[in-house]
Amino acid sequence: MTTADRLNVMPLGEAMFTQRAIRRFRTDPIPADVMQDIMQAAIRAPNGGNNQQWHFIVVQDEEMRRQLGDLYHEAWWAKRADAGIMGPEDIPPGRNSMRSAMRLANEIGDAPVMVLVCATAKGPQAAGSVIPAAQNMLLAARAFGIGGTIATLHPVVEERVHALFSIPDDAQVVYCMPFGYPRGNFGPVTRLPLNEVCSYDRWCAPPD
Ligand SMILES: Cc1cc2nc3c(=O)[nH]c(=O)nc-3n(C[C@H](O)[C@H](O)[C@H](O)COP(=O)(O)O)c2cc1C
Repeated sequence: MTTADRLNVMPLGEAMFTQRAIRRFRTDPIPADVMQDIMQAAIRAPNGGNNQQWHFIVVQDEEMRRQLGDLYHEAWWAKRADAGIMGPEDIPPGRNSMRSAMRLANEIGDAPVMVLVCATAKGPQAAGSVIPAAQNMLLAARAFGIGGTIATLHPVVEERVHALFSIPDDAQVVYCMPFGYPRGNFGPVTRLPLNEVCSYDRWCAPPD
C-alpha cells in the first residue's frame, strides 16, 4: 500500500472542509509510519521551479521539543510585543484565536511532534515556496485524525533555533508546526461568504 492509498481513508472534500487550526493536543505519540506518510505528502507539494529548496526537521525528541517550546513561547510574546501587547490583559476581548494561540505558546512543547519547515535559502521567495508543503501536511494529517497548525517564530530566537538544530546560516525556518491527536474536535471553519472575497473576471466590490 502506498501513502496515496493510505490517505484515501478520508475523502479529500471531508479533509479540506474539516481541517482547522488545532492547538491542543493529546500527548499520545504519532506512529512513525503515519508521520512518514505526512512528510511524503509534504514533499509532493508545488514549489518554485521544482527546485525543492526545502528541508523539514521533524522534532520528536522530548528534550528538543521542550527547548523549542521555550523558544516558541518567547517568540510568540516577542511578536505580540511588536504589536503593543505586553501580556494576556492586553489581548482585546473577542480575539479568541489570539487567546488560543497564546495557550498554544504555553503548551506547544507538549505536542508529540513539531515540524520545522525550512527553506534552504533566505528571502521571501524561498519562504513562499514552502507554503504549499505546509498545507499538504495539514491535509494529510487531517486524513489520519491528526491536527496541527501553521505557526511562525520571531527573529529574536532565530540564532538560538539555528544553533539548537544545526540549521545552516543560509537557510531559514519558515514555520514551526505542532502536530498531534487533538483534544477537541475538527470541524468547519468560520470564513466570510465567498461572494465577499471572490469575483469573476474583474475585482468587484462586495454587494451591500
Ligand atoms: C502564515 C500563517 C501564520 C500563522 N501563525 C500562527 C501562529 O504563530 N500561531 C498560531 O497559533 N496560529 C498561527 N496561524 C494559524 C492561524 O491563526 C489560523 O490558520 C487561522 O486563525 C484560521 O484558523 P481556522 O482554520 O481554524 O479557522 C498562522 C497561519 C498562517 C497561514
